[in-house]
Amino acid sequence: MKKTYKIAVMPGDGTGPEVVAEGLKVLKAASKKFGFDSKEEMFDYGGDRYLKTGKTITDEEIANLKKFDAIFLGAIGHPDVKPGILEQGILLKTRFGLDQYINLRPVKLYSDAFCPLKDKKPSDIDFVVVRENSEGLYKGMGEFVDKGKSDEVAIQISHNTRKGVERCLRYAFEFCQKRNKRKKLTLCGKTNVLTFAWDLWQRTFDEVKKDYPDVKTDYAHVDATTMWFVKNPEWFDVIVTDNIFGDIITDLAAMIQGGMGIAAGGNINPKGVSMFEPIGGSAPKYMGKNVINPLAAICALGMLLDNVGEEKAARAVEDSVIKVATTKLKSLGAGKMGYSTTEVGDLVVENL
Ligand code: IPM
Ligand code: MN
Repeated sequence: MKKTYKIAVMPGDGTGPEVVAEGLKVLKAASKKFGFDSKEEMFDYGGDRYLKTGKTITDEEIANLKKFDAIFLGAIGHPDVKPGILEQGILLKTRFGLDQYINLRPVKLYSDAFCPLKDKKPSDIDFVVVRENSEGLYKGMGEFVDKGKSDEVAIQISHNTRKGVERCLRYAFEFCQKRNKRKKLTLCGKTNVLTFAWDLWQRTFDEVKKDYPDVKTDYAHVDATTMWFVKNPEWFDVIVTDNIFGDIITDLAAMIQGGMGIAAGGNINPKGVSMFEPIGGSAPKYMGKNVINPLAAICALGMLLDNVGEEKAARAVEDSVIKVATTKLKSLGAGKMGYSTTEVGDLVVENL
């Protein structure tokens, strides 16, 4: 019997709906070709709904998402809503509410032509960042003391638990084994300054690594990591890091793989429901123009397929993206592709 996957679709704001539509087009084509079915349900969580109703995403709505096999997300962020409300109220609330404690961000250069670095080729830029996705500075802990006064103090706490750190590290080690490329895991931190949080990370890393003797380990401070991304990205295989460092280094990583037009990620709960998204934002200035690059969303859809167990389809989607990106598109940038958003989606379907 054909498998049917239940997919919750959250197109979101700005160009989110446009890129999600192309992802769904590819999903339909892949399901036909690889013999599975999918049933999508659309959810309008985002800025427009918030402006109309004052609602971000409710606890009941989060609970409802647990009955799906996976979530496909476009983008969250609306120019008429104060920064932070939708990001915290929808994106982070969903990540936390579904305990998606890993943010998995593959960084792969598909063609030299897309790389802003001199003399770097696809074999030099091929690594994965495993970002802790449920703790650290993102916990939102802290306080103001004497707010608004001249002696004001603002405190923002990085909250790291042994259990939270350990499950992230174990995921990274196991991912590195499964990936089976160079079998090297780099811990990216700041042990020289953040002597509480990173002491816990380093100690846990040193303990946990004994269970994975086939994985080579390494450590790099986060500032140095940004330097190596530019100078020697070929040194990396899998990187594991905390929530804020992972956020920052993956924007830089996205640029060296060709930009936000191609960078995708997954918010993973290994035992629950995971959510896949292009890592770029809602890009409101391109909204409705049919110029945004949908490949990042299509790559996210590919990761979703891999996650639900359709590995063959996932590989085919990635192969098609590579073919289209390297043989058709003039550039990966919005408005510079030589094709419209919908045409790029069609090309991926044709090459599947
Ligand atoms: C990301 C984004 C989010 C984050 C924002 C929108 C809250 O930058 O997915 O990387 O900081 O995690
Ligand atoms: Mn980010």
